[in-house]
Amino acid sequence: MLEERAAILCCPGCGGNLQVADTLCCSACDRVFSVRGAIPELFWPNEWDAERSDVTDAVKEFYEETPFPDYDEFDSAQSLITKARTGLFAKLLDDQVPAGAVVLECGCGTGQLSNFLSIANRTVFGTDLCMNSLGLGQAFKESNDLRRVHFLQMNLFRPCFKPRSFDLVISNGVLHHSSDPKLAFGAISKLAKPGGFVLVGLYHRYGRLVTDLRRRVFNTTGDRFTGLDPNLREGGMDRAKRRAWFVDQYKHPHESKHTIGEVLSWFDEAGIRFVNSIPRSRPFRPFSDSDRLFAPEDPGNAVERAMVELSMIFRGSREGGFFIMIGQKSV
Ligand SMILES: C[S@@+](CC[C@H](N)C(=O)[O-])C[C@H]1O[C@@H](n2cnc3c(N)ncnc32)[C@H](O)[C@@H]1O
Ligand SMILES: [Zn+2]
Repeated sequence: MLEERAAILCCPGCGGNLQVADTLCCSACDRVFSVRGAIPELFWPNEWDAERSDVTDAVKEFYEETPFPDYDEFDSAQSLITKARTGLFAKLLDDQVPAGAVVLECGCGTGQLSNFLSIANRTVFGTDLCMNSLGLGQAFKESNDLRRVHFLQMNLFRPCFKPRSFDLVISNGVLHHSSDPKLAFGAISKLAKPGGFVLVGLYHRYGRLVTDLRRRVFNTTGDRFTGLDPNLREGGMDRAKRRAWFVDQYKHPHESKHTIGEVLSWFDEAGIRFVNSIPRSRPFRPFSDSDRLFAPEDPGNAVERAMVELSMIFRGSREGGFFIMIGQKSV
């Protein structure tokens, strides 16, 4: 029950304590937040200067129309486990995030990972801007009776959680769809406990080149030749999921691309120590399913990282040119 976890929540407007009942009420500023379909609506806008570009509304509108990644028609808790564990990343998380851990996912989309991680007795908060995506996650939670996952609407720039609340903060495929990924990283890393971990998945500057090329082909041919995308070519997804993948990869209103070195500088500024990355930041050290995600690794030097990053041009295209970085907050 969310009521039992009220102590880690806070008002996204003023940071005050929230009282949780049929609505959520701030004891400092008296603002009242509604709950729709069991999902607390704790979204708060950025309140930046008018000159500053803010893509939040455009991104929210995009995902309200096409929630991502969506579920296959016959997904159940068992099929979610089976599918998730075929991917290296979800399998490693499931094997290595201990039972009892309190996990926050920022930008959970339709909530697959949050639902999946909650199955093995972890408490997981799945948060996103998009109510339609959260609704799909909540429906899956309810139909599979997953009691340890909670879905909440939240803008990651204006968190509804107190700082230093989580053992692990995950934001996978999200910050590159925000106006200011570095600021976003600073905001979510504050939510990790001292000694806790922060994990971000981002589009890579070189890893994304092949996807960029395909986008050009689609845009100039009226979306013919979609078979150039291996995920669309090989099938394995139902219609709604295929559509969600296609628009997310090729029709998105906003995306940015990043490098390992750049994220290391975000880590430095936020007081986060580098722990690991996928792919590894030094060459010739492929990640295997027996490797430890949360055991500190050497980030390598600029030449080693350049070798890894250049090789991503050729091998990053299936997942859209993605890389994952994990850091640990200083104690
Ligand atoms: C590509 S989807 C990734 C979903 C999920 N993490 C996954 O890996 O499948 C990006 C998600 O980030 C969310 N998002 C973008 N900006 C956000 C923000 N400022 N606060 C919260 N969520 C945001 C979007 O609504 C969308 O659901
Ligand atoms: Zn308040």
